[in-house]
Amino acid sequence: MSNNIKPQKPAPTPSYSQNSALLASRARHFLPNAHHYHSKALQLVKARGVYVWDEQGRRYLDAIGGIVCISAGHNHPKIKQKLMQMLEDDEIQHTSLLYLSRHVVELAEALVAVAPLGLDVASFTNSGSEANEMALMAARQSTGETIVINLRHGYHGGTAATLAQCGHQSWRYRAQPGAATTSAMEPNCYRCPFKQKRESCDLECATNVETTIQTSTHGKIAAMIVEPVMGIGGLIDPPAEYFHRVTKIVHNYGGRYISDEVQTGAGRCGNEFLLSKELGIDADMVTMAKGFGNGAAIGAVLMKSEDAAAFAGKLYFNTFGGDPMQTAQARATMEVIAEEKLSVNAVAMGQRLENGLRELMKHHHLIGDVRGRGLLLGMELVEDRDSKQYATEKTALFMDKCCEKGVLVGKGGLMGNVVRLAPPLTISAGQIDQLLEVFDRSFAEIS
Ligand SMILES: Cc1ncc(COP(=O)(O)O)c(C=O)c1O
Repeated sequence: MSNNIKPQKPAPTPSYSQNSALLASRARHFLPNAHHYHSKALQLVKARGVYVWDEQGRRYLDAIGGIVCISAGHNHPKIKQKLMQMLEDDEIQHTSLLYLSRHVVELAEALVAVAPLGLDVASFTNSGSEANEMALMAARQSTGETIVINLRHGYHGGTAATLAQCGHQSWRYRAQPGAATTSAMEPNCYRCPFKQKRESCDLECATNVETTIQTSTHGKIAAMIVEPVMGIGGLIDPPAEYFHRVTKIVHNYGGRYISDEVQTGAGRCGNEFLLSKELGIDADMVTMAKGFGNGAAIGAVLMKSEDAAAFAGKLYFNTFGGDPMQTAQARATMEVIAEEKLSVNAVAMGQRLENGLRELMKHHHLIGDVRGRGLLLGMELVEDRDSKQYATEKTALFMDKCCEKGVLVGKGGLMGNVVRLAPPLTISAGQIDQLLEVFDRSFAEIS
């Protein structure tokens, strides 16, 4: 029997606008760079658990988790209940940090409790970009230095300072200041910029961080910012030893190591809530967003009190950062992740998915590489395994084929040829098998 995810078709709800009307209006009123993931634009209107529905009532298994934002599952009953109760009780929706609120304090306590030792100060923002802005500012203020090292292929946000750290031409703008930043080579084992093999290399990518500092800075740096798994860059996942070597180098040159866990955090990549803790990364700051709020617009920065002290005598104000609803939602998400042992499930289901993808690799030569950690996985698609020619168009086609069969996946990589998988951490073994079956048929149709 086919495992096809049966589209459920209740009568369309007439109040949803037609897709053609929405597209026409977007064309008139949106910036020309507003894009969508599929050749036929999707309108998603409902969600529960690992599923989302379009305006026609068609159901999809959300294997990208609302762009890696859904950790505890869409509309988790406990989180929903908490928010509904707050509204019911007329709880204040906005206060700002100029007034006291228990929600933000409770969240800070909960976050520090699961953070790597020494990261005992927490701050909240509205997004991952702002969290990284704050970490960069703290590092610069604390060290008295300005230069930040990033990695080619990295992504850290859409604001001025974070875009300046982006290693993708498509995200960079002419207006982007390039000063005070420099890039080290990406630790990409599948396409090693040093032409080495993971099994036999000497982590030339880590050594390159030191060479970059020695050749493109004055010998002192403010910070290095790195994702433990480079999400948008195409799920580049260096071995743990890379981080041990690089953090030492960064510290030797006086810098702070910022671990950008916007995608990897919230229990997605290991048994710990944060991958930095799981891998023993000696980070001075950790930033979070996305799955941390399970859909709420919230970001967080964890830092050491020595660096936080650099803010003394300066003002930092963020109108909505730390507001009651967002912080309550993030706190409830943390509770659900702990109570339902979702990070343990992420490890087990991640392994099942990864094994299944490796099995598919045996039959589908389009898959050049499978990589990632936990439930943050990627498949790099190539036209040919020897030349590793990017299969960019086929990646887009694969996404459409999966979508037709009721599965949503994402994509990334500089050339848009890496399929990104990040389902809610609640996904079951049966649902993983359904995904694999849909992938198998989609690849078969393409070839
Ligand atoms: C690793 C990483 N850092 C930062 C950001 C920026 O987060 P936001 O879009 O919430 O500003 C993103 C967003 O995709 C990201 O993937």
